[in-house]
Amino acid sequence: MTSLWWQTGVIYQVYPRSYQDTNGDGVGDLNGIERRLDYLVGLGIDAIWISPFYPSPMADFGYDVAEYLDVDSRFGTLADFDDLLAAAHSKGLRVLIDLVPNHTSIQHAWFVESRASRSNPRRSWYIWRDPGPDGAPPNNWISDFGGSAWEWDEASGQYYYHAFLKEQPDLNWRNPEVRNAMYGVMRFWLDRGVDGFRIDVLWHMIKAADFPDNPPNSEWRPSMGEKDRVLQLHSTDQPEVHAIASEMRTIADSYAGSGQGPRVLVGEIYLPLDRLVRYYGPERRGVHLPANFQLINAPWEARALETLIANYESALPPDAWPNWALGNHDRSRVATKRGPVQARVAAMLLLTLRGTPTVYYGDELGLSDVAITPAQVQDPLELREPGLGLGRDPVRASMPWDGRANAGFSTAEPWLPLNSDWPARNAEKLAKDPSSILTLYRRLLAARRAYPALSAGAFRLLDATGDVLAYERGHDPGGMIVALNLGGSPQHMILPDRAATFRPLLSTIDEFVSIESGALLLRADEGVILTAA
Ligand code: NOJ
Ligand code: CA
Repeated sequence: MTSLWWQTGVIYQVYPRSYQDTNGDGVGDLNGIERRLDYLVGLGIDAIWISPFYPSPMADFGYDVAEYLDVDSRFGTLADFDDLLAAAHSKGLRVLIDLVPNHTSIQHAWFVESRASRSNPRRSWYIWRDPGPDGAPPNNWISDFGGSAWEWDEASGQYYYHAFLKEQPDLNWRNPEVRNAMYGVMRFWLDRGVDGFRIDVLWHMIKAADFPDNPPNSEWRPSMGEKDRVLQLHSTDQPEVHAIASEMRTIADSYAGSGQGPRVLVGEIYLPLDRLVRYYGPERRGVHLPANFQLINAPWEARALETLIANYESALPPDAWPNWALGNHDRSRVATKRGPVQARVAAMLLLTLRGTPTVYYGDELGLSDVAITPAQVQDPLELREPGLGLGRDPVRASMPWDGRANAGFSTAEPWLPLNSDWPARNAEKLAKDPSSILTLYRRLLAARRAYPALSAGAFRLLDATGDVLAYERGHDPGGMIVALNLGGSPQHMILPDRAATFRPLLSTIDEFVSIESGALLLRADEGVILTAA
């Protein structure tokens, strides 16, 4: 079976506000991403996914889209986007953009019309309901950002539904006009040449037709945030959502013959495994990659990870391609969660598991979560539910590029504070340091290119004990062994017989891998890749 670019390739997520500013306003922009393309090529990734850059009032930093067919002036212009896309393609990089189809901004022209009156032709483009008997919201659904998911509209005397902020009204995907409009948006960007979409909150897109109350969550504690007070049984993951995924797939696939190769759909889905894998669709007609976020919150323990990986591999439908991530713009960074040394082991894991990895910008520098004082908070989630640790500002700090003012990110003060270790931990410095995490990322990414077993080969867990997680990639000859010590004490692993002929390819620590009498001796926090000699 030949592999496609989105299967063997590595995706790198760029949060555009935080990547590189070029016009001195402290906010990253599209020209900034273009300026850093050579860095990305040098890193060795294959595709970038850019979080939203559409015109937006920025209530949720661009996940509230006021116009789908344009670029927010803070990020640049449509011409800047075309330039970026052409430059990326000329350097062999693919570009995915973020599609936010579940909801618009309250300022989108569709919603302005929809709320204008009950008889407006666009009324049914959103989800409007009469109040309950006592004027209460139509049901008990809770917004992911806290509070009722229903907002009262005094002028027209109905509530509208918003799964996120009240500034992000949900579209009514049961309305074929909405579907056609959003499919037109997809074609607009596919025609411009984007290589695919990351689809925001795909599992939210259809709600139960009769809007029943969600059941209470008996395990709820206030520290979890309001969203989890109820189980999102009726408000998310409805059977009809799969038809949408397959309609989107048909559109993406219709561009496969365009000369630029297949386009890809990555669905953002936070669901238990059995429900997650349904998004591959019957006959794999759903999204290409229902995003697998399991590593983000997994217990960092060898046997637990073994089980998680085995369960995922065996839950995949036939021909479904796996994918993995350690973080994103909504979750605590891997270096904070796993610590700086295990972040290196995590990198080896991410880049050697079977499936498409997504690297979150800055993780290749070992960036940790930034401390945000109450006065510095920008994230609406933290503003609405302060102090629970839900806020996402800490993982959205700007990229530290070099030793210049503001870490070379901007000539102005960045919109969020920089990580305080930026004078030492910046891309320029780490690139020159052979023992840095950045150098490790580069080596791992280079190894994936040099050894197809790592990017496309079969996967088999190996017997291991203690803190060691080990697996084999590919088949003889040319197979590889990956052994990861997830703990802080030395471990040894008995190698399979035929591994006698294996030689070390890469360690997360240095060059000195030790193999003695058929056993691999792993130092504390060490990961190793072995290859057939
Ligand atoms: C998921 C995005 O990743 C998150 O950042 C955003 O707040 C919500 N969707 C709402 O669009
Ligand atoms: Ca800027």
